[in-house]
Amino acid sequence: MALRARAASRDWSRAPAAVRAGALRAAGEALATNAEEAARLVAREVGKPIGEARGEVGRGVAILHYYAQQVFDPTGELHAPSSAGLLFSQRRPRGVAGLITPWNFPIAIPLWKAAPALAHGNGVVLKPSPAATACGLWLEELLGRVLPEGLLRVAPGEAETGMAVVDQADVVSFTGSVAVGRQVAARASGRGVAVQAEMGGQNASIVLPDADIGRAAAQVADSAMGYAGQKCTATSRVIVVGEAGPFVEAFLATVERLPVGDPQGDGIAVGPVISQAARAAVLAAAAEARDAGGRILTGGDGLDGAGWFVRPTVVAGLEATHRLAQEEVFGPICVVLPAADAAEAVRLSNGVRYGLVTAIFSRDLDHVLGLLEEIDTGLVKVNAPTSGVDFYLPFGGEKDSSYGPREQGRAARDLYTSTRTVTIAPSGPG
Ligand code: UN1
Repeated sequence: MALRARAASRDWSRAPAAVRAGALRAAGEALATNAEEAARLVAREVGKPIGEARGEVGRGVAILHYYAQQVFDPTGELHAPSSAGLLFSQRRPRGVAGLITPWNFPIAIPLWKAAPALAHGNGVVLKPSPAATACGLWLEELLGRVLPEGLLRVAPGEAETGMAVVDQADVVSFTGSVAVGRQVAARASGRGVAVQAEMGGQNASIVLPDADIGRAAAQVADSAMGYAGQKCTATSRVIVVGEAGPFVEAFLATVERLPVGDPQGDGIAVGPVISQAARAAVLAAAAEARDAGGRILTGGDGLDGAGWFVRPTVVAGLEATHRLAQEEVFGPICVVLPAADAAEAVRLSNGVRYGLVTAIFSRDLDHVLGLLEEIDTGLVKVNAPTSGVDFYLPFGGEKDSSYGPREQGRAARDLYTSTRTVTIAPSGPG
């Protein structure tokens, strides 16, 4: 499979820029034309609420159009030669990009890896999560209509398929768990292949005393519970500085109003979690918090009837060192932690092994600018939810959240190309 993609990538890398841009543009248009079908498939296969699923597909269209234009960016830099002639650097495709992607953004993540890989002249082998096989195959079929034969292949399967992709690719991009990401990074770098891994998060939203309580409550609720908290950018800790009462009251009221139900239903914010095991893990985390002296402020249980539903759950009264405040549960559950002042809030926020995203809610931007220096995550949001990313900027975290260069935006070029330096001296007698 990688061999076919490699053969196809040779012609593709030499195709005129307008041809590559045209194909990516056509891919964006094909996705836009079939957007509702894609969104319905996402809702059905991975339980994403239909509104969010439509947003994700729209993001996929924008990503394809954005990278279609990036084909026309300069591919190198011209420098003054050390003697006569020409001296320049040149970005070149690496060959075949092996992409290993999760189920939670089954359209957007494959596209934000595949589109830059293709734009910069590579072939693609994509190994989607087994829980998102239908979305992966759907994308292969859609992109196959506009791309040269064999250039993008989807290899559905389990872990061994993923490792086979890692063993054959010329560059690897992974999104998923820390445990698997570490293995992928070690195996790819062991082969001397460029690799990037986006892994977990344990993200904090810090609410300062001068924050707009209504705005903060709505945005934190959305980022903690939207799509049942199944995003690496979800808020898992809410750190409230000073008198916590008014914020917590508004937050709980907002969380309890979130519509929970069939992800295909209009207006639903929280669908089921991905599997029976995932549901058991979230309920076990809530029980463990209770046993450790935590208070379940809302939720903590499932819903009656079919489906792996967990009621949005907010826990207070735990130590910051408790597992629930340290590790990623990947469900609709978050912990409220009090902090005496902003400095303590930042210490708590940084006090985990992850470093993906932090949100700060405040009206005092001077104060926020000072805090930014202390925050150790790859993304910071001010008065905005931790979840949700802009595809045209670099995305990635610090510490255990990420490995290797950033993805998305122009940063993606660093992964999917290798730079060559060319010296051309005059051919005549020197
Ligand atoms: C988002 O918050 O919109 O797997 C994107 C994830 C992240 C992407 C989050 N890599 O959840």
